[in-house]
Amino acid sequence: MLSHTYDYPSILETSQRINWKLEDVIGGRTFDFSRPFLPDSLAGVAGIRCLDDKEKLKLNHIRGFTYLSLFGLVEEYIVPSVLDHVRGGVHEGQERRALLRFAEEEAKHIELFRWFVREFKSGFDTECGVIGPASEIASAILAHCPLGVFLTTLHIEWFTQKHYVESVKDNAAEHLDALFCSLLKHHWMEESQHAKLDTLIVDEIASTLGRKEIEKGIDDYMDIGKLLDGGLQAQVRMDLESLQKAIGRVLGPAERAEIEAAQLKSYRWTFLLSGMTHPNFDRSLRELSVDGHRRVGELARAIA
Ligand SMILES: [Fe+2]
Ligand SMILES: [Fe+2]
Repeated sequence: MLSHTYDYPSILETSQRINWKLEDVIGGRTFDFSRPFLPDSLAGVAGIRCLDDKEKLKLNHIRGFTYLSLFGLVEEYIVPSVLDHVRGGVHEGQERRALLRFAEEEAKHIELFRWFVREFKSGFDTECGVIGPASEIASAILAHCPLGVFLTTLHIEWFTQKHYVESVKDNAAEHLDALFCSLLKHHWMEESQHAKLDTLIVDEIASTLGRKEIEKGIDDYMDIGKLLDGGLQAQVRMDLESLQKAIGRVLGPAERAEIEAAQLKSYRWTFLLSGMTHPNFDRSLRELSVDGHRRVGELARAIA
């Protein structure tokens, strides 16, 4: 049903070859708080007029912290969903091993994000809030049908690719923190296999479904997107409080409004639109359903 050139044995082989440890990512480094963590394409602070350069750097760091926290949080639902898919029992041998590695790597990524969150907290002067708890958000996502859940995962896997490419592209211009770049790079290395595995999973699930069930899967994917969007809106409000503490001044209503608008736009790009509009995700969606693809396009335009 979906056009791709992926197969389990070669994905398994690449995954075994690439496999990194936490120490490889960290490399004895710690955060350099004099540098931005995220490229501005993902942090969206450069254009905010009411903040000076030092304050923009603080907001970039807060966005780095929430990037780590939100990734650790969304990956919580991926592990049980992949294990459930394996439990379906249709995969044996290398296919089964490739899928089990997928779950294992995501569990490792959760540990990685947790280490980075702890490291951030030990170096950043003030406290930052984050939405949650992760288990509740994971349960809310998993309450949707498997096609909706795995489309969401596919969306996340592909946008992870885009995030690393943008960090590399922007690093020369923005001199990003080396430890954060290392995280984006190592995550990208393993997520490259996940994006392929997820395409195979979506294809497998969809091939067992009728037209109505496929449309329902796409609607569920959009519902999960709206759920995440609500979380991002709450996160923007929390970030304003974190920012005030970090810069040591109270923001006026006009300043709050400017930052809130810029940050909501940026969060939506980073976690929703960069996945929804990724060419590979877009193609898979169109191949699943022309009408579903149109509905997702409408949603993307509504939140852009
Ligand atoms: Fe991951
Ligand atoms: Fe992944």
